[in-house]
Amino acid sequence: MADSFTPADRLAMLEATLEATRDAIMVVDLDRNILCVNRRYLDMFGFTADELERGGIEHVVTKISAELETADAVTATSRAASADPSIVRLDVMRFTDGRAIERFVAPLMIRERIAGRTASFRDISAAARTEDQLRQSQKMEAIGRLAGGIAHDLNNALTAIAGYAELALGEVADDHAARADVEEIRRAAERAGSVTRQLLAFSRKQLLEPRVFDLNETIAAMSRLLSRLLGADINVQTRLGAEPLPVLGDPGQVEQAVINLAVNARDAMTGGGRIVLSTAMETVDEAFAASHMPMTAGRYIVLRVSDSGQGMSRETQARIFEPFFTTKDVGKGTGLGLSMVYGTVKQIGGFIFVESSLGQGTMFELYFPPAKIPARETTNAATDVRNERHGHETLLIVEDEPSVRNLVASALRHDGYHLLIASSAEEALELSDAHAGPIDLLLTDAMMPGKSGVELSNLMTARRPGIGIIIMSGYTEETLAVPGLKGPIALLQKPFSPRELRRRIREVFDR
Ligand SMILES: Nc1ncnc2c1ncn2[C@@H]1O[C@H](COP(=O)(O)OP(=O)(O)OP(=O)(O)O)[C@@H](O)[C@H]1O
Ligand SMILES: [Mg+2]
Repeated sequence: MADSFTPADRLAMLEATLEATRDAIMVVDLDRNILCVNRRYLDMFGFTADELERGGIEHVVTKISAELETADAVTATSRAASADPSIVRLDVMRFTDGRAIERFVAPLMIRERIAGRTASFRDISAAARTEDQLRQSQKMEAIGRLAGGIAHDLNNALTAIAGYAELALGEVADDHAARADVEEIRRAAERAGSVTRQLLAFSRKQLLEPRVFDLNETIAAMSRLLSRLLGADINVQTRLGAEPLPVLGDPGQVEQAVINLAVNARDAMTGGGRIVLSTAMETVDEAFAASHMPMTAGRYIVLRVSDSGQGMSRETQARIFEPFFTTKDVGKGTGLGLSMVYGTVKQIGGFIFVESSLGQGTMFELYFPPAKIPARETTNAATDVRNERHGHETLLIVEDEPSVRNLVASALRHDGYHLLIASSAEEALELSDAHAGPIDLLLTDAMMPGKSGVELSNLMTARRPGIGIIIMSGYTEETLAVPGLKGPIALLQKPFSPRELRRRIREVFDR
């Protein structure tokens, strides 16, 4: 160091350095008297120099402790530290307002003796938030896999239970003693089916029929329904962005997601209140994206649903998207509403965030990537229920699960179709090669050991061009989303009823 500095210069230089650093710094002596703090320290914790002078370290500890998430952290640390000033420690203080501050405490050495302690503080809120978000999304992935697996197995069983109950109803006379019982079985299976459907929606394993639709139209069409659904003491306002908002997804799913959000909002406003639904096309910049991991910057279609309800604590917010997380009484909520919303948003490739505090209401923000092609007019005429005509066509049925396979066969047996039945794709190809006549429709499970339903569909289309295809599944791996599928196909979501099965088959033939 240059010799021209006097001792006074050196002191001034140290002071200037303290003021120029981005960390907050405090120095205390062995009796815990405050020796010095820098400006940044006062700013970070909201103290005035005067306040420190008068209150000393006791005041600092009391005030900071009151703002911490775990209240006794500061006192415990400073007690341990004052007992042994040679301790070096590094920890993170978490504040109730969401800030995370890293604290580094070390002995203050003067002439090789411990003369006190220095504490420096660094605001790491941004990094801590990113890490929390990452951990959160990994947790949601794991829960999603678990939920999807359970729902998949349950679905096969439920398809069989509901299906056989419906078939049995067709056989028992109206006045038969067993009729009411069988009806109960069917109803119970349907209720259970709605739970598995929501679980599948959450785990994104659900079979969807995505198309490009205009979010503005969807929301506009729903506003009357919502007013009726939510009751008179809740005011529903809709504010739609000016431009069309093309989203590639299943509009039915998005409608269901909006209903779930609206019903939650209603439940949070026991004395009535207001719900605002707004849509817009917005640009997300790098800074916003970085603080909303794993979002990337760019154009997004944004849907906001806000309410003037009771709001949520931070602990509640951290868990709302988990399946079966609910704060409602037993029988009032199953905790699946927001799980379904989450799955729907993720399946579209979007993001969902919540902003809420107790007593201040809640806002959910849904960000969707805009679809490349604009929404076009779609007619629902094609999906109108046609009269169930009895068929003469040949159907090839492929399903590895015996209960579902038998159900499909039983349901179609009396409809006049000629049925070829296989338990695997390989067996189906053999049957097809051995069958000299036409095969009009392939009805196959999606996931089977050996070749999948998608692979089988492609092979069958190559062998028998023009064959109709229906893929049934409650569970799709990414393979189904791959646009490698050739030829027109229809999807049938498990669990399905025999009636839906018949209708779906007629639709394919009538196309
Ligand atoms: N708008 C809101 N305001 C306040 N709290 C909310 C709001 N939306 C959700 N919550 C909280 O999140 C929890 C989970 O919501 P979710 O919709 O997943 O389940 P649920 O409403 O409890 O039950 P379900 O929707 O299955 O009937 C709720 O129990 C509630 O505590
Ligand atoms: Mg709900």
